[in-house]
Amino acid sequence: MIPFVDLKAQYHSIKEEIDRAVASVLESTAFVLGKEVAAFEAEFADYVGSSQTIAVNSGTSALHLALLAAGIGPGDEVITVPFTFVATVAAIGYSGARPVFVDINPQSFTMDVTQIEGLITERTKAILPVHLYGQPADMDPVMEVARRHNLVVIEDAAQAHGAEYKGRRVGSIGDMGCFSFYPGKNLGAYGEGGAVTTDNSEYAKKIRMLRDWGAERKYHHVLKGYNYRMEGFQGAILRVKLRHLNGWTEMRRAHAQLYAERLKGSDVIAPEVMPYGQHVWHVYGVRTTDRAAVQQNLQEQGVQTNIHYPFPIHLLPAWSDLGYGKGAFPHAEAAAREELSLPMYPEMTREQVEQVCNAVQECCVVGRN
Ligand SMILES: Cc1ncc(COP(=O)(O)O)c(C=O)c1O
Repeated sequence: MIPFVDLKAQYHSIKEEIDRAVASVLESTAFVLGKEVAAFEAEFADYVGSSQTIAVNSGTSALHLALLAAGIGPGDEVITVPFTFVATVAAIGYSGARPVFVDINPQSFTMDVTQIEGLITERTKAILPVHLYGQPADMDPVMEVARRHNLVVIEDAAQAHGAEYKGRRVGSIGDMGCFSFYPGKNLGAYGEGGAVTTDNSEYAKKIRMLRDWGAERKYHHVLKGYNYRMEGFQGAILRVKLRHLNGWTEMRRAHAQLYAERLKGSDVIAPEVMPYGQHVWHVYGVRTTDRAAVQQNLQEQGVQTNIHYPFPIHLLPAWSDLGYGKGAFPHAEAAAREELSLPMYPEMTREQVEQVCNAVQECCVVGRN
């Protein structure tokens, strides 16, 4: 069986470092925020190329606080995509603002930047592109339209740690970047975690207060805040894992390259890499018009796959109140019908990638007979 991801393999490869980091938190009893989290913030800011990182308890909290720091609330509109994990849209909902969708570009699966300007109204306050699967959205046109209309840009970089757009790491391009450290992410904690990156010290100050009950100092609550603090264990673990991230990203890239070579001529379409970016392959998503059959066949051959995502947000019952119907975003809808995620994690071997490709080629043969 080739699993979709293998978190245990990664833990075993760095077990000693992790166990030492966890033991040091136990000894220090700094279980919430504390020295390890502060050190991780400094190291992650350096990694991304932003002056500040504010660590929080999830990627969703990061998005929520970034929106609040930008002053976004009821009556405002935020432009984003319907083809993403639900958290992107839910966070906009938490702020009280209304999500306004723009379709995706079918090549990149990220925001179709040509459609943004037509959706801007006097209520629009922000643009929230998603670097889906680890591929950067086309940020230059996003920034250009945002500057012309005085809009804030918040990058959803939850799946894209270390991805680059024209030589800059994502999270350092917009006004704020939001990351998730959910365990399966390219940089994953051993529990929940997230962070906001920014060069704007006003935003950073506000987010620091909002994550810790809106307090300027202990019990001096100047804002209505939240309990969104990062745990000490996660800070210590993320510090260890950050040191390995570039190496892991290179392994993902090698797997992606091998996939692209060996999937040629099969019935699935390999993902496209846009020329402006450096992909980090959180998800290796192929397309097939016969997804259910391919997935079933791969399962029978011992290859675990996944779907990211089976429904675009605008067709989910939870978001029907936005009033979008079927057909509103044809590229997002086609992606939701056709995407299939193949196994992708750094610790996969070359042989395993080849086995997956052989299995895909095999199901094509079966399909044709
Ligand atoms: C694109 C995207 N945005 C936001 C999130 C939310 O992150 P978290 O699960 O850490 O709250 C995720 C993660 O699952 C994600 O994939």
